[in-house]
Amino acid sequence: DKKLHQDHLEAHELLSKFFHHLLMNTNEGQKSLEYMMQRGFSEEQLKSFRIGWALPSWDFTSELLKKRGFDLSSMEQAGLVIKRDDGSYFDRFRGRIMFPVENDRGQVVAFSGRIIEKTSDEPKYLNSPETPLFQKNKVLFNYHKARGAIRREQSVVLFEGFADVISSNEHVPNGIATMGTSLSNQHIGMIKRLTNQVIICYDGDQAGIEAAFKAVRETAASGLEVKVAILPSKLDPDDYIQKNGSQKFRQEIIDSSVSIMAFKMHYFRSKINLSTEDGRLHYINSVLKEIAVLPGAVEKELYIKQLSGETNLSIAALSEQLSSITPREN
Ligand code: CTP
Ligand code: MN
Ligand code: MN
Ligand code: MN
Ligand code: MN
Repeated sequence: DKKLHQDHLEAHELLSKFFHHLLMNTNEGQKSLEYMMQRGFSEEQLKSFRIGWALPSWDFTSELLKKRGFDLSSMEQAGLVIKRDDGSYFDRFRGRIMFPVENDRGQVVAFSGRIIEKTSDEPKYLNSPETPLFQKNKVLFNYHKARGAIRREQSVVLFEGFADVISSNEHVPNGIATMGTSLSNQHIGMIKRLTNQVIICYDGDQAGIEAAFKAVRETAASGLEVKVAILPSKLDPDDYIQKNGSQKFRQEIIDSSVSIMAFKMHYFRSKINLSTEDGRLHYINSVLKEIAVLPGAVEKELYIKQLSGETNLSIAALSEQLSSITPREN
């Protein structure tokens, strides 16, 4: 109901402020602040995204909420505290760097907390659970703040994670992220409300390439114009920026994003061992199958030429092979 909803929003707003204060201005937060600075985040970035620190305590948050008049059973529903068997409550987020997650109206509806030291079985990021305020498949990180830039640039850049959005923000203000989940139809709907063009910029590791392949299929099927920004294989966007700066990232990665077909060639190369004859044949056939379903003759010829250059095979041989492939239904 309305009162509960308002309660949950107010609690998230209060905690965002508190966590941020703890990170920026207290001794307890100093080590985490140093960790973030070490990673290359500026004070300005931490402020603008209201990054915070949740104390490594079982009851700091619950005590604060109680003191401010919040009912802990309502806070449990909001995903902020967890109920014990004996009926008492403890904090969900303990000893983590806190990333507030806003809904499409800029209200904080969830948190994601990152550990700063690698431990055995703790997940790197701990997210709020699904709550009345927060459904993962309907929320995109930075969507509210980026919407002006998305309209201005007539495109959106889709990342995997928080760090990617934040580090690129100065030169890529139209960046948003799915927070690790796959792209849902609702996410795609949110994008289409703002723009017709999407640049997918996932991590350069194999998991990122696979996820990008899937996202390309889904966004293209929805009618969006899709390009893919390709990263060096060991880097994610944030890694690249810490190494090369965000201006270079904008120019070399985002402004150099490639067509779906060029990305698919990259995708096949990442999976197929090109040092064997078998692998090369497999690669050529995979690419030819994609060329076969391209709509235009000019497009077909363009990629046949590219494949020919890449493989040292004649355009005539590749064209003959292509004509023997029946385009599969999409
Ligand atoms: N994620 C998550 N839970 C995890 C791991 C990841 O929700 N256990 C989400 C986070 O939103 C994260 C995104 O998936 O930002 C991408 O995951 P990954 O590439 O592994 O993390 P990075 O964003 O690169 O995190 P960092 O740079 O802080 O290591
Ligand atoms: Mn607003
Ligand atoms: Mn990743
Ligand atoms: Mn990553
Ligand atoms: Mn990263």
